[in-house]
This record gives sequence, structure tokens and C-alpha cells, in this order.
Amino acid sequence: MKKISISIFIITSIFVGVSCNKDKTQAPPEPCDPSKVYFEQDVLPIIQSNCAKSGCHDAGSHVEGLNLTTYNGIMEIVKKGNANDSKLHKVITDNDPSDIMPPPPSAPLTADQINIIDYWIAEGALNNRCENSNCNSTNMSFATDIKPTIDANCLGCHSSAGGTSGGYDFSTYNGVKSAVTNNKLYESIVQTGSAVSMPPASKLSQCKIDQVKSWIDAGAPNN
Ligand code: HEC
Repeated sequence: MKKISISIFIITSIFVGVSCNKDKTQAPPEPCDPSKVYFEQDVLPIIQSNCAKSGCHDAGSHVEGLNLTTYNGIMEIVKKGNANDSKLHKVITDNDPSDIMPPPPSAPLTADQINIIDYWIAEGALNNRCENSNCNSTNMSFATDIKPTIDANCLGCHSSAGGTSGGYDFSTYNGVKSAVTNNKLYESIVQTGSAVSMPPASKLSQCKIDQVKSWIDAGAPNN
């Protein structure tokens, strides 16, 4: 009996060991549950577009030794399960203009963005992600389908409050449209070479890329 349980233990540990080796922290994608917060879809875009800019905490600049373009880098300022004790929460909610992140003149994170980060930390700060098996990319509306993607992933670097990188301000329809007209918008997010890859340190999900393409192909309406 003892022998059997020992061999079961060994077999199980080999199995667990092998599956962990493949991917150390990132969980496999799960179907997107709208009531949950996901690191890759919800938290990372906020941090990348507001904190991981060139000159701040990206891989090249890493001010104060912090590279906030990756899960491991972000976890250096997160205490799992405890937002109030996490440096990440403290700097984004600091009342002192000389300590708050991102520093002025960048706009502070919105209450919604802070809530997403706090909720994610409280839930254990998992390296989780989700995928929708059925991606709807037909009849896209600028207001309900495209703008939320741009707001979450691009405005930190492309708005008057965040700096109009590359000369683009995507806080308005006209600003977005200007990058449609010269083909840069799609080329930058599909990341195959004829424009600078955007967002700089990550890639939108295939579903979001397909949605933007479908909207552009329909004439990029302001609908
Ligand atoms: C972390 C900051 C950052 C984020 C986030 C970001 N951008 Fe950029 N973007 C830049 C910078 C910096 C440039 C200028 C790059 C250059 O000229 O080398 C730029 C340039 C561009 C350009 C011009 C590219 C070209 O080849 O001329 C487009 C289009 C663009 N961004 C779209 C986007 C879109 C769409 C998103 C969101 C999905 C996004 N960006 C997110 C920083 C960012």
C-alpha cells in the first residue's frame, strides 16, 4: 500500500513538474468571464500605456530598475492579495503630486482603472488571460467596439494628457480616423512590418485586431 502511494506521488510530481516547466507563471487562456479581471486583457494594457512608456518604466529605460512591460516586472511592486500594501496601488493613488504615478502632466489613472488593478491584486494577482472562442467582428460600431479597445490600449501614449506619440491623439474619432486614412492604424496593430508595432511591448488579441480591420474595411464609420 505504502509503495503504491509513493509511486503515485512520484508519478504525480513528474507530471506536475513537466506541465509547470512549459510555462512558469502564465495560466492557459480561459473563456472570458465578464465578471472577472484578467491580467493580460485588463491590467497589462493599463500599465503598459500609462507606466511602461519610453523614458519611464519600459524595457529600455526601466527608471528605478522597474520594467513594467511584463508580469514579473509588475510583480516587483505588488503584494498578492493585498492592494493597500502594494506599492503599485500606493503610487497610483498618492495625493502628493511629486509622488503620484504617472507623474503630471500625465493624467492620473481613472477610478475605473484603479479599481481594476486593485481587484486583480485582491484576487491574488494571477498571471491569467482569457480568450473568446466566438469573436464577433461583423457590423462593428466605433463607440461600442473600437473606442474601448483604443482607450484601454493606446490613450496612455496617444492623447493630449498622455503625450501624442508619433503625432497621434486617439482620444477623438478624428484622431483615430487620421491613422486609418494613412493606413498606419491597421499596419501598426497587425505588427507585420510596414509601421512601427503597436502597442510597443505587447500585441492586441487576434479578435480585437479582426474587429478593427472589419471596422476599417467598412469605411471606418463614426457609428
Ligand atoms: C507605451 C506607449 C505607447 C502605446 C501604449 C501605444 N503607442 Fe503608438 N506610438 C508610441 C510611440 C512612442 C510612437 C512613435 C514611434 C516612432 O515613431 O518610432 C507611436 C507611434 C504610433 C503610430 C505611428 C506608427 C508609424 O509607423 O508611423 C501608430 C499608428 C500608433 N502608434 C498606434 C497605436 C495604437 C493603435 C495603439 C494601441 C493599440 C498604440 N499606438 C499604443 C507609443 C505608444
